[in-house]
Amino acid sequence: MTLAQLRQELARLLGADGLLTEAADIAPLLVDHHARYHGQALAVALPRSFEQVAALVRWCNRRGVGLVPQGGNTGYCGGATPDESGRQLLVAMRRMNRVRQLDADNFSMTVEAGCVLRSVQQAAEAAGRFFPLSLGSEGSCQIGGNLATNAGGVHVLRYGMMRELVLGIEAVLGDGSELHALRSLRKDNTGYDLKSLLVGSEGTLGVITAATLKLWPQPRASATAIVALAQPEDAVALLGLLRTACGERLSSFELMPRSAVQLTVRHIAGVTDPLGNAYPWYVLCELTSPGDEPLSELLQEALAQAAERSLVRDAVLATSERVRAAFWRLRETVPEAQRLEGVNIRHDISVPVAALPRFIAEASKWVSEHVPEGVLVCYGHAGDGNLHFNINCAVDPAGRAADQSGSAAGPAGEAAAFLAREPQVRRAIHDLVVRFHGSISAEHGIGLAKREELAHYAAPATLAAMRAIKHALDPNGIMNPGKLL
Ligand code: FAD
Ligand code: LAC
Ligand code: ZN
Repeated sequence: MTLAQLRQELARLLGADGLLTEAADIAPLLVDHHARYHGQALAVALPRSFEQVAALVRWCNRRGVGLVPQGGNTGYCGGATPDESGRQLLVAMRRMNRVRQLDADNFSMTVEAGCVLRSVQQAAEAAGRFFPLSLGSEGSCQIGGNLATNAGGVHVLRYGMMRELVLGIEAVLGDGSELHALRSLRKDNTGYDLKSLLVGSEGTLGVITAATLKLWPQPRASATAIVALAQPEDAVALLGLLRTACGERLSSFELMPRSAVQLTVRHIAGVTDPLGNAYPWYVLCELTSPGDEPLSELLQEALAQAAERSLVRDAVLATSERVRAAFWRLRETVPEAQRLEGVNIRHDISVPVAALPRFIAEASKWVSEHVPEGVLVCYGHAGDGNLHFNINCAVDPAGRAADQSGSAAGPAGEAAAFLAREPQVRRAIHDLVVRFHGSISAEHGIGLAKREELAHYAAPATLAAMRAIKHALDPNGIMNPGKLL
């Protein structure tokens, strides 16, 4: 069949307004957030309902067309970008954006996959409840993408990753079969947990159309501080002290080096240095509680204890909601500031929390010896042992590095040379991660970016089991071909 005939069939399935084919309309969806991956597509489908998604999956099986699901397109691994053949169908979920049900007594809500994360948080809040997933991209990423990548973010320490926040799932599997499992049960031991399998599957097993999410009581009190530290060892000790003193109330513990603060101050309007002096490391920590507790006093006492043990060089507590928001803006704009700075080599790794300082020391030493032109921006969710161990290409004399594609004039050569070393740098850092019994993908997934790395590091039995699962649920291999495996 010709491309035109395939598009005609799709238009009949979806209606005239359900299919985008004009280059100008689809171009922004064919490139990932960091402009590292570029693709082409047969068309972009905009399904409105479960039935339309099911019809699309069956059509793709009949016609042998690859289907690439896309949410907010904020993913870090190129998983939502189609290949360059122009024969894959991009399925953008944005029109499936209804909150189907919110059950405040059951502390649960059922939402469609195309709901933007922030709108889900807001719907929960309007009902006096709290949906805890929180990421810097929450204004554009979607629940379907959060599920498909098993997103983490800044509240994992207390509430867990996306897999722990979901009770039920509705999906169309790769073979066209329908999974209606929107259960809102806390306990359900009836065999294999298919919803857990779909979480983190990155669009390779089926299209997630809706999910039932867990809710919590809305936090009413909070206390937030930025703490300056001399070294990562002190962060681990501070984490232990805060967990012991504050228990469950500790909901975030984020580590940033001086270089991350400098980058955000440089690139993000309104962000200022949080403390009078410069320090090598910073922790943003936050306590929250649904009750009316004096959390600032609790945090101050804990930080005073930490200071007595010489763990803390300086600290500032948020005295208003405005200051608290400014602290969070500093942390959450680190990835955007890094992107604006120019090309970078990113790692999303985790090691056991206690091993963080030794990992940072060894990995930093390797970078300074082997990537002298690199600026280390190693930050992240230290409370979960998860670091974004990123290396920026040093800024060129004109003041800016090239864009991620390395296509800009002038610094492009430098940028391209830097990026050409990415496989070697990654392998060295990941080898180190493995030595520390860590993970080469803590929260961003595999997609295209780490496919070779997964193939290299995963145990043969693990890969074989993954392939068997893929084949069982997607026998024709139409779901997000070439991603993950
Ligand atoms: P997309 O990028 O559209 O897709 C991601 C993957 O999911 C692709 O493989 C796609 O095929 C698949 N997919 C999407 N929707 C569906 C569906 N309905 N059914 C099946 N498969 C689907 N991530 C974190 O974990 N923690 C963070 O703290 C974090 N912070 C970030 C900050 C910024 C500024 C940015 C830009 C990104 C950040 N991310 C973070 C990465 C990203 O936001 C998450 O991975 C997010 O979960 C992706 O959601 P999305 O809707 O944008 O998915
Ligand atoms: C963060 C993203 C990049 O934590 O995961 O900022
Ligand atoms: Zn992160």
